[in-house]
Amino acid sequence: MSIHISAKKGEIAKVVLQSGDPLRAQYIAENFLENAKLVSKTRGIFYYTGLYKGKEISVGASGMGFPSIGIYSFELYTEYDVETIIRIGTCGAYTTDLQLFDILNVENAASESTYAKYAWEIEDEIIAPQGNIFGIINETAKELSLKAKQTNIHSSDIFYRKDPNIPAIATKYNCSAVEMEAFGLFANAKHLGKNAATILTVSDIIPTHENISADQREKALKPMIELALESALK
Ligand code: HPA
Repeated sequence: MSIHISAKKGEIAKVVLQSGDPLRAQYIAENFLENAKLVSKTRGIFYYTGLYKGKEISVGASGMGFPSIGIYSFELYTEYDVETIIRIGTCGAYTTDLQLFDILNVENAASESTYAKYAWEIEDEIIAPQGNIFGIINETAKELSLKAKQTNIHSSDIFYRKDPNIPAIATKYNCSAVEMEAFGLFANAKHLGKNAATILTVSDIIPTHENISADQREKALKPMIELALESALK
């Protein structure tokens, strides 16, 4: 048990898929894993461990934002000896060059957040995925004939803001989309020498206000889930 996860030691696999939403983790466990067992439900943040094509994989939630993914990913890496976390999430596109349902393999996460600096004395405003899992995801996407665009994204602390313009840091680092967790995950993995990547599905086009409706979401996220699971096998 760790402070925020009630699984016993050994009940979490070396590879974890992390969604923001606990119900998405439950959906993945129930629909993609065999013999999935609920190993933690503290604060409604579900973690399941089961088999995907014979390999033990865990799936659980990060919650939203750096504080939340910072806690869960740190405890997974340090208390459960997790080696690799693949975040699977949604993002808002800053540009109409992206379309709803596009899949992104995050190449770098840029942020104005002080999380990495105050947690680990990492001063960078842009952090890459850690280890070779980013490359594995690219290879796996090719094998599956799935398009996974490699792109920089903005990891933001802020969902609602006064200024409607694209934030300066996103322009500075050519970020095509925004989410709220990858930078925190990459910072933890960098500090701990672990593996981390983030795959995102575009759920909103910010300039046009288009979005994937709630009932489209489950189906829309399937290719990303399969890409993450197939990558986790390697
Ligand atoms: N902002 C931040 N995170 C998001 C968004 C957004 O517009 N859409 C999906 N995740």
